[in-house]
Amino acid sequence: MIIGAAYYPEHWDKNRWAQDAALMREMGLNTVRMGEFGWSVMEREEGCYDFSLYEEAIRLFAEYGISTILGTPTAAPPAWLCEKYPDIYMTDREGRKRGFGSRRHYCYNHRGYQEASRRIVSAMARHFKENPHIIAWQADNELGCEDEVRCYCEDCRLAFIGWLKEKYRSLEALNESWGTIFWSQTYTRWEQIVLPARTVVDGYTGYGHNPGLLLDFAGFSSDSLIRYAQMQCEWIRRFTDRPVVHNVVSEFCDNYKLSALFDRAGYDAYPRSEWDCNSPGRTGFHYDLTRGLKEAPFWILEQQSGPCGWNVLGKTPEDGQLKLWSLQGAARGAEALIYFRWRTCLFGTEQFWYGILDHDGIAGRRYREIGEAVCEIRKYEDIFSLPNHKQTLLLYDYDNKFCHEFQPHASGFIYKEEVTRFYEALLRLHLSVDVGSVHTQPDDYEMVILPFCSMLDTADFERLEKYVRRGGTLVLTPFTGQRLKNNRIVPQTLPGVWRKMAGIRVEEFYSLQEEQTETEELGNIRFWREKIALETAACAASCTVNGRREAVISENSWGKGSVFYLAALFEDCEAVLDRICRRKGVAGFLLPQEVECIAKEGKEYLILLNHSKEEKKVRLDGYRRAVDHQPVEAVPGMSWAAVQKRERLL
Ligand code: GLA
Ligand code: ZN
Repeated sequence: MIIGAAYYPEHWDKNRWAQDAALMREMGLNTVRMGEFGWSVMEREEGCYDFSLYEEAIRLFAEYGISTILGTPTAAPPAWLCEKYPDIYMTDREGRKRGFGSRRHYCYNHRGYQEASRRIVSAMARHFKENPHIIAWQADNELGCEDEVRCYCEDCRLAFIGWLKEKYRSLEALNESWGTIFWSQTYTRWEQIVLPARTVVDGYTGYGHNPGLLLDFAGFSSDSLIRYAQMQCEWIRRFTDRPVVHNVVSEFCDNYKLSALFDRAGYDAYPRSEWDCNSPGRTGFHYDLTRGLKEAPFWILEQQSGPCGWNVLGKTPEDGQLKLWSLQGAARGAEALIYFRWRTCLFGTEQFWYGILDHDGIAGRRYREIGEAVCEIRKYEDIFSLPNHKQTLLLYDYDNKFCHEFQPHASGFIYKEEVTRFYEALLRLHLSVDVGSVHTQPDDYEMVILPFCSMLDTADFERLEKYVRRGGTLVLTPFTGQRLKNNRIVPQTLPGVWRKMAGIRVEEFYSLQEEQTETEELGNIRFWREKIALETAACAASCTVNGRREAVISENSWGKGSVFYLAALFEDCEAVLDRICRRKGVAGFLLPQEVECIAKEGKEYLILLNHSKEEKKVRLDGYRRAVDHQPVEAVPGMSWAAVQKRERLL
């Protein structure tokens, strides 16, 4: 397995490199990632390329048995480039130019930026093409991670018009699709089309624009990023056939489409930073989503290696926690694990983003703990790399994400947050989960959850229909079937195309705003509640809501399978899914809370991660610990255990 750290030779005195390489080797690292912010080193002035610093570093690390993942440096356009093109900067929704400083200060559609990228990336790929120590290329770094994707500059407006012309062919078709008759927005010339910047009146999410325009602009912006990424891949691949990878983390891009460009999708894992304090489930969701992006093993291109923040620090990871997070990623299917970063930087924005080593460069507690993690991962690599057991599939889709972002129905509703709640619930029930796109083949799964799916292509609908007909279990939620792919609302009674399969109709709905509706049986309902009429469905769970008994979960037989419809957004997704699983015999492992279980193919192997500080008692009949061959009895605090079936030991 590729295990390493991000190293910035441009940040450290050359005399130190050898000591770093020796320390890395001693703790079992075999890879460094470098180069991804080095543009001003590689091209100090336009056209003057100098890759010698990186070449020297790559050579030195190779002497210690350490290979390199080389990053192209385009995430940080240098000052000379921005001086040359004062219009290179992205324009935000308020019409402000986001200027120099920080990083990603550019617009994806800026020709000058694209051309300068082509030159530096090609020069770099040409220079390093024969270098045997480069095992992979990282194209750029976290494309679209800094809210720079939706740019409102004139270049983007013109490019958007081009994109629309290709999509709609005629203005009549566009006007019809968007419904521009509303508020007299009919366009009579392509050039009149605007970007959805601030209007005179903006609603809750800050958008008062036409929903068709909003969704197309989101799609166009995502495509602009993807087109740029595609060009980078082509420039790199012209010279080398090494794998090209990328850390895919943007919230504004269709990451399935983006990942299709790369040999592997990567993720950057920071469970606890200035900005996040993620539960194990939330971290697990991202790992599984990244695996689902290509339905393939993924790379962790950055893994938290200490406390972190820019201006303030997030909580310091507890003893054992860095190790646990590392093992979680490896167990969920990472085939590369790169810590961010090797040593904490003495200058620059990320002075507080702690590496494996502190500022003083001395190997300390974190060095030892991560070293232990590396050792254990290597020991169990063969188990970790087995495919995960297929049991439940949670579908995650970017068109729906964007649609809910503009019009979330109820204040506080955030698509990704709510999908993650389902994921966390599945984990707490100790079921195996895959996260995937709406195009994923569902047939191998016992249960498929399709949350908040307002819009879906007919082919995807038909695949899911067939899945149920053949015996699958499908779970639907509010907002299902509400829209067409162009963001118009369907004229049918909800849940639209799903009505027959779900065997219900939505008769009434209640946006709850800040209120919560308490139920005794299934906990609180938040954001949204519906009154459903059972047409052919049976009531799978009812609640007393405001003194009245109402069906809140329905179950309808369809072919050999079943469709469940949740008529509310429940706070306690676990209780809801537990009901459904019990009815359908979808069984998880009986394990204590806070113990995460990752089952491998056919449940031959289980990996248990105890995320609590306390010792947890675990009994799993028929399984023994791989570590000491004892029957599985307890998992001590903040720890993990690889578990395998007894039979395999006999
Ligand atoms: C991201 C980036 C890194 C670094 C870390 C910490 O994940 O890819 O370059 O900036 O965040 O902020
Ligand atoms: Zn722009």
